[in-house]
Amino acid sequence: MIKLGVLLSGSGSNLQAIIDAIVEGRLNASIELVVSSRPDAFGLERAQKAGIPTVALTRETYIDPLAADALICEELQKVNVDYLVMAGYMRMVRSPLLQAFPNRIINIHPALLPAFPGAHGIADAFAAGVKVTGVTVHFASEIYDTGPIIAQRAIEVREDDTLESLEQRIHSVEHQLYPEVLQLIAQGRVSIREDGVVRIEEEAT
Ligand code: GAR
Repeated sequence: MIKLGVLLSGSGSNLQAIIDAIVEGRLNASIELVVSSRPDAFGLERAQKAGIPTVALTRETYIDPLAADALICEELQKVNVDYLVMAGYMRMVRSPLLQAFPNRIINIHPALLPAFPGAHGIADAFAAGVKVTGVTVHFASEIYDTGPIIAQRAIEVREDDTLESLEQRIHSVEHQLYPEVLQLIAQGRVSIREDGVVRIEEEAT
């Protein structure tokens, strides 16, 4: 069983998918703390409804980004978190967090990285007219939306897709993939090779 901290900034539908997977026994983990970069994030309500402690930060907290990360770090260490899960966290993670959780911070992005990083991955891919896009789960690094890739799922862009219909399909893949990847981590099957490539061990039979 792994102890998770979750960082978010918005709706928290990925947080919800992780909570549901834990409740349904598909993910052997507990969420010890949810930290939001914004006080009005709906994800905070989802956490509270699930009985998870929350910390809400404000824009002012991030005026000094290193101090903000040191503060987050302190809160996470108080509850002994093993892994930090970014679920729609629209801020960079910086050295205080990266050093406290080396290769233990995970991010999800709604595109096939390294293509279309940033805050608008779905819209950017749609506007570029790509025929295939997808979802990436990766270990976070000091550069936003980069770091060793753990898993990816491809999603075809259909002729009749609108941005909204594509968004819907991408989000539903995210909600499946994120708990699955976290379960691989909980099972100790994810490691990073010396060359930086992630290796996933076969399930023991
Ligand atoms: C998700 O689509 C996630 O992949 C994206 O933010 C959304 C958050 O939704 N993250 C990024 O774009 C990171 N660059 P949620 O708040 O409903 O989970």
